[in-house]
Amino acid sequence: MISLKSVSKFFSIKRGMFSREKLTVKALNDVSLDVNPGEIVGLVGESGSGKSTLARIVMGLYKPDAGYFTFENFDSRTMKRGDWQKLRQELGVVFQDPASSMNPWMTVEKIIAEPIVIRKKNLSFDKMQRRDRVVEILEATGLSAADLGKKIHEFSGGQRQRIAIARALVLKPRYLILDEPISALDVSIQAQILNLLAELKKQYGFAAIFITHDLSIVRWFSDRVAVMYLGRIVETAPAGVIFEKSRHPYTQALALSKLDMDVHKRDFYTLPGEIPSPVNAPPGCPFAPRCTRVQAECQRAFPPLSQNDAMAAFHCFNPVAA
Ligand SMILES: Nc1ncnc2c1ncn2[C@@H]1O[C@H](COP(=O)(O)OP(=O)(O)OP(=O)(O)O)[C@@H](O)[C@H]1O
Ligand code: SF4
Ligand SMILES: [Mg+2]
Repeated sequence: MISLKSVSKFFSIKRGMFSREKLTVKALNDVSLDVNPGEIVGLVGESGSGKSTLARIVMGLYKPDAGYFTFENFDSRTMKRGDWQKLRQELGVVFQDPASSMNPWMTVEKIIAEPIVIRKKNLSFDKMQRRDRVVEILEATGLSAADLGKKIHEFSGGQRQRIAIARALVLKPRYLILDEPISALDVSIQAQILNLLAELKKQYGFAAIFITHDLSIVRWFSDRVAVMYLGRIVETAPAGVIFEKSRHPYTQALALSKLDMDVHKRDFYTLPGEIPSPVNAPPGCPFAPRCTRVQAECQRAFPPLSQNDAMAAFHCFNPVAA
């Protein structure tokens, strides 16, 4: 299980190009989340809500400024270099733009085999076994052994994403991070890649953190959904009910929002009101300026979270849904 325990991540930025004054961006603020083996947890929220920062914490690219996370028996506070290597063996990653992380001079075989080569000291693959594994995964993602010697520029966007998925799965990890894996693709290709991921999930049984802006997709692909707003998780619930029976006003607003059909826009949601800045954010609920249920106490401090699975604060609850 992956478990984030009250994780916060702050970035220090300069006020302006010529200013020495430092401002703090609260990219993640006291976030707790569990991902169970075999479970797909969808992560949704507007641009800048902290989704990728959460993913980067789990990948070990950022150190939490407060809180910690556990991964099976590892604890981020006490992990040694070798432990991080073992963790990465169990964690495949697919980003939005696959080409940016692939060497254009490498063959597909080398690109997909890279995770095996990097960890060759820990793994007992000989050359033949390595090639067999690469071909197995390549075929599972809908490409073929005939593609092994080709370079990345010979493939379409959808095929490149298949190669990226093959590379993420080559070590048969138990967990995947999928950070907007289809949002850069044409709509016709998006469905193909999603179906492929669903098929691979059946075959390999991985768990995943699935980051997306698309609520209909997250509902279809995830078991559970966590909704983020300005560095906080405001509600988690099973994917089948979260948008129909939303408890938190932000989730309700998302569920009612008009989806922007232009998939090339960064944000799909069109909610009324401005998202507040995560820089030097005032105390209180960050959703207060846009919330229809706002009360005086919301402005003073962030409300306590309930122990319930739907982590909405008690006075945010939609009594009809509860
Ligand atoms: N390295 C960094 N330095 C400074 N600020 C950062 C850094 N990385 C992220 N941030 C800030 O932290 C906040 C959360 O960013 P993050 O990339 O996690 O959001 P996101 O939900 O993934 O957004 P998107 O949907 O646009 O990908 C944003 O305000 C962002 O500007
Ligand atoms: S704490 Fe208050 S402002 Fe924030 S979501 Fe709940 S009701 Fe709305
Ligand atoms: Mg992101």
